[in-house]
Amino acid sequence: MKFTVLTLFPELVEVFFDHGMIGRAMERKLISGESINIRDFATDRHRTVDDRPYGGGSGMVMKPEPLGRAIRSAREKSPRAKVILMTPQGKRFNQEDACRMAEENQDLIFVCGRYEGIDERVHSLFVDEEMSIGDYVMTGGELAAMAIIDSTARLIPGVLGSEASPLADSFVDGRLEHAQYTRPERFEGIKVPEVLLSGDHGKVAQWRLKSGLTRTFLNRPDLFEQTRPSKEEKKVLLQWAQELKALAGESV
Ligand code: ADE
Repeated sequence: MKFTVLTLFPELVEVFFDHGMIGRAMERKLISGESINIRDFATDRHRTVDDRPYGGGSGMVMKPEPLGRAIRSAREKSPRAKVILMTPQGKRFNQEDACRMAEENQDLIFVCGRYEGIDERVHSLFVDEEMSIGDYVMTGGELAAMAIIDSTARLIPGVLGSEASPLADSFVDGRLEHAQYTRPERFEGIKVPEVLLSGDHGKVAQWRLKSGLTRTFLNRPDLFEQTRPSKEEKKVLLQWAQELKALAGESV
């Protein structure tokens, strides 16, 4: 699977392609990546890539010609690729999209805008999907493209190595992942929960279920609306509620 990023700052993306799990996966040829400078496709003396918006107003808009040429060039190298425009106006990306794209195994070309956006004709002529990584506006789409590449690539078989399993990830079952601990047993006066040292796999699994559920309840209660709690989850949450009640009773 090939990830191509069209950007005015190719060095930003190259650093990402060269490091960590992604860098290693590229070395092992499990995935490949290329970042292409949109400015290389400008033809005037000043290598202009932006211009003032028709109709007036502040800010600059990315010109369609260099961008169109850059996308065509990327498509020649990746003929079956899907073209994704990074924009806060796009569909909000989530773990399900990462799973779908990793499974489809289709090459991806990311178009990263800067300034106020790109000429609308580029959307209609070249773009297959528009994606956002959240309801906030950044100065460009590069960080968003890297977030999508990272979360998609790690789901491609072999990228994470044999030990890690993406099945336990947060969001996979509509819940947040449980808390994790490693050595030492005591850090700054705080002990690792006893049950994790017990070697009792059943009890550990039960503790992890509760940990993930209580985190979800406190940080992302909206996830319970998308995936209603199962019978077992309700039992764990009710038990937790009883514990909280007892705790509150003790402190008054
Ligand atoms: N470009 C600027 N902000 C963005 C966002 N939130 N998601 C995707 N691309 C962007």
